[in-house]
Amino acid sequence: MDLLTIIKERRSCRSYLSDPVSDADIETMISAAINAPSPLDSQPWSFVVVTQNETKEKIYAEALRCRNFLLEKSGWKWLGKYDLEFLKSVPAMIAVVGDPKKSGADVFMEGGPGAWREACAAAVQNMLLAAQTLGLSTLWFTMFDKGIIKGMLGIEAIPLAIVMVGKAAAPVAATPRKGLGDVMRYIR
Ligand SMILES: Cc1cc2nc3c(=O)[nH]c(=O)nc-3n(C[C@H](O)[C@H](O)[C@H](O)COP(=O)(O)O)c2cc1C
Repeated sequence: MDLLTIIKERRSCRSYLSDPVSDADIETMISAAINAPSPLDSQPWSFVVVTQNETKEKIYAEALRCRNFLLEKSGWKWLGKYDLEFLKSVPAMIAVVGDPKKSGADVFMEGGPGAWREACAAAVQNMLLAAQTLGLSTLWFTMFDKGIIKGMLGIEAIPLAIVMVGKAAAPVAATPRKGLGDVMRYIR
């Protein structure tokens, strides 16, 4: 399948079958991730692959805690209905860990170092697209306290995202996108 079709067909999945994901598929995804661009080629990422039920349960518990905290803070009713049970059935989770020490020339610019995060985001997107080529579904997940996940996974740097990966339990409908006319203009 061509890349543009892969891009258009990728959707966030929040319901998975428990079929395991092979190490080969996980490694294909991470190989795609590490081919992302990064500032000064700093490659500020590392990855922790979690398939162990005990650790998945802990991540589920943290996500639940975080969801309830956000519900209380925001009052957003949809959060109360956001079902996190898929964190128990998803066969694999890949934590994407970024190292703030590995940024680029942005270190000297207004706003300080941030490009390490942007590079990790590019790596995440590569992973999602690679999974799509393998017939796997994904979710870019961030509903957790970074400090808590850091301790849980025993890492030094910052867990920016946890990518959920597995076979979708049901097809996922596309969310509507703004039209090109709403988001772009030419200067020419
Ligand atoms: C930085 C980032 C953080 C996200 N965090 C979450 C999350 O914690 N939980 C979740 O269900 N979806 C999360 N998403 C997925 C978005 O909700 C999703 O991409 C968006 O609704 C568009 O749907 P689509 O991915 O199917 O096109 C996140 C996406 C991004 C880019």
